[in-house]
Order: sequence, then structure tokens, then C-alpha cells
Amino acid sequence: MTDTPDTPATAPAPETPSAPETPAPAEARITVSKNGPYRIEGNFTIVDPEGNAYGLGGRTVISLCRCGLSANKPFCDGTHRHHGFMDDPAARDLPPKAS
Ligand code: FES
Repeated sequence: MTDTPDTPATAPAPETPSAPETPAPAEARITVSKNGPYRIEGNFTIVDPEGNAYGLGGRTVISLCRCGLSANKPFCDGTHRHHGFMDDPAARDLPPKAS
């Protein structure tokens, strides 16, 4: 009788940890970039005026144009860099909403 090992002759390769990813925040976060786009990350949906969602190809971070020059609106295509768009945003409080 031949001994049959309980384990395979070759052990399975250990799992290789994938590159660490920064988890997207649960709620959307919008960063107003200096001289650039709005960067949106987290849990969000972008819809057109009829409420149809844009397909984002699995992206969880996206940049929306705020210079008005993108050929791929509403998304930033980097054109702002070539046209001198300048805005140095700083967070501030809006006045109270009029009722
Ligand atoms: S902000 Fe990038 S193209 Fe407009």
C-alpha cells in the first residue's frame, strides 16, 4: 500500500497582498483644486439634466472641469493647464441662506 499524503506535494502559493489602495470615503468629498478641476471621490453619482447617470468605467475618483474649456465636459481633460486658468481657492463660509 502506498502512503498518500494528506497535503499536496506542492503547497499552494501564499496569497500575495495587492498594492494598498486608499479606500474611498463613504460619502462624497469634493476638493476644489488650485488652478484646476473639482476632484470628487467617495460615494457619488454624476447625472445629466434628465437624471441619467454617466458611466464612469469603475472610477471612484473623477475630476470635473471648472475652467469651462474641457472638450469632454463635464469632465476635466487637462486643458486648464494650457490656458492659464487660475484660481486659488480657500474654504470660507457662505452667508446664511435667505428664506
Ligand atoms: S478644469 Fe481641467 S479642463 Fe477645465
